[in-house]
Parts: sequence; structure tokens; C-alpha cells
Amino acid sequence: MKNHIEIKSLIKPFKEKIEVSADKSISIRSVLLASQAIGKSKIYNLLESEDVLHSLKAIKKLGINYKKNKNCYEIEGFGINGFKIEREKNIYAGNSGTLARLIAGLLVNAKKKVKITGDESLSRRDFTRITEPLKYFGVNIKTKNNGLPLTIIGSDYLRPINYTENLGSAQCKSSVMFAAIKTSGITKIKAKKSRDHTELFFKNLNIPINISKKKKYDIIRVKGPSNFRGFSYNVPGDISSCSFLLVLTLLSKKSEITIKNVNVNRTRIGIIKILNMMKAKIIFKNKKIYRGEEIADIFVKSKNKLVGVNCPESLNSSAIDEFLVIFLVAAKAKGVSTFRNLGELNKKESPRLNIALDFLKMIGIKFLRNKDNIKIFGNPNIKLSNKYTVKNFRKDHRIFMMSCIAALTFGGKWIIHDKNSINTSFPNFLKKIRMLGGKII
Ligand code: S3P
Repeated sequence: MKNHIEIKSLIKPFKEKIEVSADKSISIRSVLLASQAIGKSKIYNLLESEDVLHSLKAIKKLGINYKKNKNCYEIEGFGINGFKIEREKNIYAGNSGTLARLIAGLLVNAKKKVKITGDESLSRRDFTRITEPLKYFGVNIKTKNNGLPLTIIGSDYLRPINYTENLGSAQCKSSVMFAAIKTSGITKIKAKKSRDHTELFFKNLNIPINISKKKKYDIIRVKGPSNFRGFSYNVPGDISSCSFLLVLTLLSKKSEITIKNVNVNRTRIGIIKILNMMKAKIIFKNKKIYRGEEIADIFVKSKNKLVGVNCPESLNSSAIDEFLVIFLVAAKAKGVSTFRNLGELNKKESPRLNIALDFLKMIGIKFLRNKDNIKIFGNPNIKLSNKYTVKNFRKDHRIFMMSCIAALTFGGKWIIHDKNSINTSFPNFLKKIRMLGGKII
């Protein structure tokens, strides 16, 4: 079956109310935490993307059973010592950095060796960022050339650590927090601000956690060992998936969209703040709080006159997965947009910063790069008519989706490869685009 798509026309004006796929970060966390709970957990609206399905397979391999009942996954945990690892195990994390890094935190008490492997893209990513802190708990943990496979042999004699997380990585913070629930004593993390879903889960599950929020970082204390009971959870929509549709609407003509039931947690809405600084007028409606997470319907209309942004570096972490589409908006905005210290983008499923800049060059947008600081010179009249091919991007799902949005809003004749990459995070992406009227061949 062909694994590329063609786009040859702009999307026509649309007005729609839709939902996007469930949140990937929360889906993976809910599966992994349910595997550690005592008794049954019920997870509704779990994202059924490859990253999450790999998470389910991983816990199954470690002896935790689950079944699907209509829209609900029921997971049967046996507490924080409940993984069954009587012989060596191999866990395949696919494309998912979140799964590989977070589950490593849960394996600090593994009785036998566990090997974590992944696809080509994941295997090349940096795992020392978690093996460094985890080894101080007293476990034997090794990478291959700083990446995967990673092997871990846990210990019965874990000791709590003091750890400074200064990348702004929620995966690193969460990996250490997961290890902390298995460790006797108080683990202290000084963490640069990043998404706080793990902290909110811990609070909800009554896992002893204390957070002291400073301007640029949080001090998090987790007391272990800490068992907790099975729980129920209804996963909201993913703002990262939603952002492709917001930008599609913003850059199209005479369109509007309401995206229902999206997680608008403050640590995730960098894109909304940045686009509103560019005069996008994105509005939240029907706001509510669910298990500490803020949820809302998001509304936006097409906007002709967007302006460049001087993006505050403090928003980098809360928009980390959205810079690709933010760059598209900067490409169309009037004036210059400036972004600083985006080096972490090159540590993602592909070297995203490099690929994004190659992409801007391909579509004739001027930019300047000084190390990881970028200036994009927007062109409000951008209209493409050439032929473009997008391939060789290590099957990065977000590069694929960003390319589709550029094709549907800027014009040109496009061939975009590696369609299957969307199964990582947003399997319904093309279906939603077609629902809005986009012609995908
Ligand atoms: C994630 C954290 C971010 C993000 C990723 C999901 C998470 O990664 O890019 O898509 O669920 O914790 P980093 O922790 O590497 O910044």
C-alpha cells in the first residue's frame, strides 16, 4: 500500500466543530500509573495510537493484564512491586520517547535485566538524560552509544536522590518521579518548568508530593515507597494534535473551527500565547477543571493580518511540540519573528529544528540562524505554485502533519511521504482534514 499522499489544492473555506484525538502524554502516563496501582483502573477515551499501544504491550510483557470494554481500558495492577520479571525481558517502545523514558523509571526495582529497544529514530535519541539520574538511585543502567538499547537491572536497596533537571524535559522529570514512588525516603527534584501531568496525577492518586513553585523552576519532593489504589480517568483531547488544525484554520481563508474538550493545561498552551501575540485571537470556551487539568473548547477564525513575534524563551517548553506549525505562521506573518534557544527541538523524533529550516528554505522563506536562535522573515503574500516533495525526515509524524498544513494553506503541488508516521500520535489526522474539506489524494 502506498505510504505517501498528494495535495494539489488549497483547502476551501470551512466552519466546523470537531474533536481531536486524546492526549498522548496523559494516555501514556495513565497506562503506566495504572500498571502500578493496587486493583483495577478504568481509562476512558485512551488515545489508540502506536505510542500508547506500545505502552499497553509493555505493561502486559511485565505481567499486567488489561482488557478493552467499549470505550474503556481496564488495567489490573498489583501495586508498585507488581511487575512480574522472573526472567530477562525485552520491551519495545517503538517511536515513543515518553514510554521508553518513563518506564525506565518504573524498572528501578526490576529483579532481572530488562532491555528497552525502539525504532531507528528512538534508538538514536539521547538516553543519558535519564540514565544519569536513575543510576544514583542505585540501579545498574546502561545505554548503547547514549541511545537504545538500554538495559536496566533494578535493586531492592534504592536510595532517594537530589536531582536538578535543567533541560525543561517532562520526560526526565517524570522518569525520576516514577522511580521515587518505589524508593524509601524523599526524592527532591529541582526542575526547570515543563508539562506537569505527572505531578497532577500524583496529587490525584494521593501519592505524597510537595511542590514549591519558583519563577523559573519547581522544587518537587516525592515521598516513597508509595502504593496507591486503582483509579478511573477520562483522557481529554491533545493540544499538540489540535495545534495543526488551529494553524490550518488561521492560515486558510474565511474559515472557523471549534475544537472541543481539549486539555489546556497552563504548561501546554505556549502555542496559544505565541499565536495570540501574533494577533490570532484564539479563544477558550466552556472552561472546566478535570482532575487538576484545565479543559476547554478552543475557537479560532482565519486571520489575514498576522504579525511577527518576539517569542519569550520562557514559552519554549510549553510549546515544545508546536514550533513546527508556529514557524508556518511566522512564515505568513508580517515582519520578523524571533525564537531563542530551540536546541531541544533537534532532540525529538527527528532533528526538527534543522528539518524545519530546510523546509522554510524549500518554500522560499528567508531566515537567519545563529546557533539555536532563529529569525524568520515572514511573507504575508506567500503563495506557492511549484512542486514539492517531503521525504527523509526519519518518519517524524509532526513533520508530516506540518507539511500537509503548508500544502493546504500556501498552495503548490505536494508529495508527502511516510503517511503512516501519524499513527504515532494522531491516527485520525487525515480523516479530520478530509472532514474539513481538504483534498488528500
Ligand atoms: C513529553 C514531553 C516532551 C514532549 C513529548 C512528550 C511528555 O518531551 O516533546 O512529545 O509526555 O512528557 P521532553 O521531555 O523531551 O521535552
